[in-house]
Amino acid sequence: MDPAASSGNSSSNSSGGGAIPATLIPGDGIGPEIMDATLQVLDALGAPFAWETQQAGMAALEASGDPLPEATLDSIRRTGLALKGPLTTPVGGGFRSVNVRLRELFQLYANVRPARTLVPGRYENIDLVLVRENVGGFYVAHDYYIAVGDDPRAVAVSTGTNTRADCLRIARFAFEYALRNGRRKVTVVHKANILKALTGIFLEAAREVAADYAGRVEMDDRIVDACAMQLVLDPWKFDVLLCTNLFGDILSDQIAGLVGGLGLAPGANIGEHAAVFEAVHGSAPDIAGKGIANPVALMLAAGLMLEHVGRQDLAQRMRTAIDRTLNEDNVRTGDLKGKAGTREFAQAVVRRLG
Ligand code: NAI
Ligand code: MG
Repeated sequence: MDPAASSGNSSSNSSGGGAIPATLIPGDGIGPEIMDATLQVLDALGAPFAWETQQAGMAALEASGDPLPEATLDSIRRTGLALKGPLTTPVGGGFRSVNVRLRELFQLYANVRPARTLVPGRYENIDLVLVRENVGGFYVAHDYYIAVGDDPRAVAVSTGTNTRADCLRIARFAFEYALRNGRRKVTVVHKANILKALTGIFLEAAREVAADYAGRVEMDDRIVDACAMQLVLDPWKFDVLLCTNLFGDILSDQIAGLVGGLGLAPGANIGEHAAVFEAVHGSAPDIAGKGIANPVALMLAAGLMLEHVGRQDLAQRMRTAIDRTLNEDNVRTGDLKGKAGTREFAQAVVRRLG
């Protein structure tokens, strides 16, 4: 199917038996290209999803005047599961980030961003997971200007909010994740020396939760700036990073850099009633429409979605096929110094699955 072909209307397409209803949002920029590539691979795998294609972002704004149409929200309410391409957010003015609204509306409070070496480069054997608090902090964005004299934008103000309940919830998620996935340590990232309340409460909650996991999962903590440096000097000493919203956003791009860049970094947004899977990267307007984007990040996000519905077997098959395509067939996209286009790469992964 061609996700770009549908504009605002829902269309269903089952790719495999035992269909699980799931919402599919192609997204903006390179979104439709990498989504097409990912769907090819999911089809070849026999992934058990029955897709409802919906629009969001600029694509939806152009089609229906609303960057987050009710039909899209209804679909996610029904399915509780979505695979989403990147969405463009206007800088400065314009509408509020659709990604942030989705996280708030569906209380997708945990953002899980694994970074594993697939293509050995500057670093080898990186295996980190960043767990980011996804609904609070500075992303609450009480962000505004105050007028002074005749300058309507003389002062800029931003207020963040972290509730104790939210901090406890994400800390528990991180420690449970560590336990279930055989991880030894959770490092809490904060700036409690300066943002004493906003990030102090986060650290405090993490310490409280860590006590319940004593002897099973270790905990330590780092101030965010020192953490950024140590991630470059010695990334192997980290395991699970537990971050507030903004620091998690920044450090997840950094750890993507440790494993070959944004083209390889997937993410999951998880709540009680819904989960949305996506690449860490954005809509990459600089390369959109050229057929050269790396679809691996979105493919790996689909892999996290397969794991979420209990199909670890299919996720593992897909990861192995991607690994062999990259490292044995040497088929790679331009961001990894290869020559393959998006479609060519997908076809190579499909051949590996055959
Ligand atoms: P970006 O992640 O789209 O691009 C950063 C750089 O990485 C660009 O040079 C781009 O060409 C490259 N890149 C990203 N993904 C790639 C891929 N799959 N293959 C090869 N190269 C890739 O970040 P940028 O430019 O800051 O943001 C563009 C738009 O995306 C903005 O409107 C932003 O708000 C939005 N965005 C959306 C996200 C989402 O939907 N989850 C996440 C991040 C940004
Ligand atoms: Mg980001």
